[in-house]
Formats: sequence, structure tokens, C-alpha cells
Amino acid sequence: MDREPDEQAAETVRQLRSLATPEGAAALSRAGELLAGRTDAVTALSRLRAEVGADLAGPAWGVARQRDKARASFGAEAARLLFTGDALEQAGRPALADRRAARLLTGGATSVADLGCAAGTDTMALARAGARVVAVDRDPVARELTRLNTAALGLTAVEVLDADVVDLVAAAADGRVAGCDSAVLDPARRSGGRRQLDPDRWSPPWSTVTALLDRVPAAVVKVAPGLDHDRVPDGIEAEWVSVGGSIVEALLWGREPSRTWRRATLVRDGAVLELTAGADPGPAPVAPVRGWLHEPDPALIRSGLMSLVAAELDATLVDPTIAYLTSDSRADSRWVSSYRVTEVLPFNLKKLKALLRARGVGRVVVKKRGSPIEPETLARQLRGPGTGSAVVVVTRVAGAPTVLVCEPLSG
Ligand SMILES: C[S@@+](CC[C@H](N)C(=O)[O-])C[C@H]1O[C@@H](n2cnc3c(N)ncnc32)[C@H](O)[C@@H]1O
Repeated sequence: MDREPDEQAAETVRQLRSLATPEGAAALSRAGELLAGRTDAVTALSRLRAEVGADLAGPAWGVARQRDKARASFGAEAARLLFTGDALEQAGRPALADRRAARLLTGGATSVADLGCAAGTDTMALARAGARVVAVDRDPVARELTRLNTAALGLTAVEVLDADVVDLVAAAADGRVAGCDSAVLDPARRSGGRRQLDPDRWSPPWSTVTALLDRVPAAVVKVAPGLDHDRVPDGIEAEWVSVGGSIVEALLWGREPSRTWRRATLVRDGAVLELTAGADPGPAPVAPVRGWLHEPDPALIRSGLMSLVAAELDATLVDPTIAYLTSDSRADSRWVSSYRVTEVLPFNLKKLKALLRARGVGRVVVKKRGSPIEPETLARQLRGPGTGSAVVVVTRVAGAPTVLVCEPLSG
């Protein structure tokens, strides 16, 4: 029988507490071994029931599976932390949380309200950076996870608070919220397992985001990378961060830590590259396709700073609405990936296939921008017997559906 949400949460809290005991830790470690040995779920659960008891078996298996997933971003520390599937799905990357915490605290703040703590990723980063943290969440499972995770890491300057962030921010005064002189707000941007695109429907909603930025100068808010620039209040720095070529987060920095208008941050192989502009640099100029095509990093595109890199590379846009740049030479810049263009033709599947066959191309990577095509499907359709490979870019050039055939990326 289905449980009521409150009962379900109380049961999850009870299970998490049982896993934080020495018996629970032993059950978790055994579940981790079975998982590492690729034991199937049915066998693993029956072994666990026999070895650690029915009460601990299910929760230990569930958390071990979440730890396994968490290892990609939490590293070895994942093995000391507890997660539910829901909390892990909402968790940011610890390395980025550390970076945010360090920047927030450079202004001299000593205490931080983590407004919506979930499994405690930001709370742990802030406490590790030396702040006193008030971790707030209205979800009892999130509060328990934060309590247990900070305790597991020996982080003691943490108070966990059951409160509604909307009310706390409404009551913020004199630059303080929840008794702290700074704040991190990371609204829940998913509901029913789906991304919530409308900021007014985030939890807490956009009105709480702007109220916090207005009332607490030493604040940072994590927002969706797709946030419309028009939403960013005046005097607030917006930063877009990509890791390994994928956009992972966007941040709004409060008036105290704000240093510029927009910032693009690229993290790759542990190195961090930043680009800033104090005012809108405007769009890059548009001109016909030349010998090289440059695919900008998503943080560069979203931050609205593409024209800065275009000017540096002597590059132009292929279309006013499309984020591809073109120039006469390969770009020596980490902000773009460059491809040598061998052919530019109107989009026509039959002609494209014939051209690739004639060139001996058998393997194709398809990229697209401004086109409804499905890259995997087109790549399958273009596969042939040839031994060569090519990058096929389907896009719009001067408004027309166009294909650029490029040499594969080298170096
Ligand atoms: C995106 S998660 C935070 C993730 C966290 N920063 C991390 O990286 O692990 C948002 C959290 O805010 C909490 N939350 C949403 N609305 C809230 C509200 N009005 N008051 C208190 N907590 C809220 C949710 O329960 C959820 O745990």
C-alpha cells in the first residue's frame, strides 16, 4: 500500500539514521562490495537480508547504488556520504560548490544560510571553507541527509533548520537572513521528475530570488543555465559555468561579490578559464562561411560574450541567430573547437550522401544548430562503406538550411 508523503519521509529518515550506526555502516560497506562485484539486485538483496537483516538490507542497497552514481562528481568522499536518488539528482558538483564558497567568503562574511540544502553539497563546501552554516530545508529527508553528511565529515559549525525559505527571505533585513551575513540559494528547478523552465515555478520562486539579491548583498543564487538575460537585475553579475564542454550551472552574484556584468567560466581538465565584460559587448558581425568553423563553448554562448572571442579570432557569425563562428584560420583558443570546412551545400540528404560516398567517408559525426534534424538518425543514414570520416554540421546560413562538411577534429 502507498504511504502518505509524511509517513514516507519519516520512514526514510528512520532508515538513514539506521545506516549511520556501526551496523548500518557495515551493511553499506557489504552492499558496496556486492555492487562492485556486479552482483545483480535480486541476488544482492537476498544475500544482504541473510547477512545484515531485512531491516538494513534494502536501505543499504539503495544508498550504495546512489553512492556509486555520486562517485563521478563527489570522488572518494561519496563513500562517506548518504544520498537518496532525489537528493543526488538535485546535487551540484562539489568542486563548483567549493569555488562558490571561496568567492562568497572573500568579502569577509563569516556565516552563511544555505537556503535549500538537500543532501548538503553547499553546506559541506561552506563549512569546509570556514563559515558557520545554517542549513535550511523544509524537507525532513534533506535535513537528515545534511545532518548526517556534515557529521560524517566532522564538520561541526553547522546548524540544520526546518523553515520555509520564502518566509526567511521575506524577513531578511540589514543584509542578513536566518541570522547569517551571507546566503547561498539553490532553488529546486525540477518537479515531477521534469525540468521546470519557468522561474516563477521554481521552489522557492523567482520572487524569492530577487528579494534575496535585493536584501542580502553577500549572496549567490544558482539558476538554470537557460535563464533569460532580461531577468538578471541591474548591478548583479551573472556567470555561466561549463565543465568539459557541457554547461553545468549559472550563478547570480549579489551586489557585494559582483565584479562585472557577465562572466563565462570554462573548467576543463582541472584548469579554469574566465572571460568577463563590464557591459554588453553586443553581437558578433555576420559574414559568409570561410575556411574554418568554430563551435563556441556553451558558457561563452550563454553569457553573451561570444563577440569578444570573435573579435580576438577575427571571426564572424554564419547567421545572426546561430552560434557558429567562421574565420580564415584555425583558432588557437580554448573557447572554441575548430573544424576545417571542406564543403558548404544546401541541405539535401541525397546529394550529401553522394558527396560523402564520393569522398570515401564511411563514418560521420553530426552536429546541428538551428535545425530540427536528429543527429544520431542522420549519422546512421550517412554511414557508408568508406574508411574516411567527417564532421557534418547541419545549420542555417543566412537563413537557409545548410550543411557544412568538415574534417574531423585533430589535436
Ligand atoms: C536544488 S536543491 C538544493 C541542492 C543543494 N544545493 C546541493 O547542491 O546539494 C533545492 C532544495 O530546496 C528545498 N526547498 C525548495 N523550496 C523550499 C522552501 N520554500 N523552503 C525550504 N526549502 C525548500 C528542497 O527541498 C530541496 O532540498
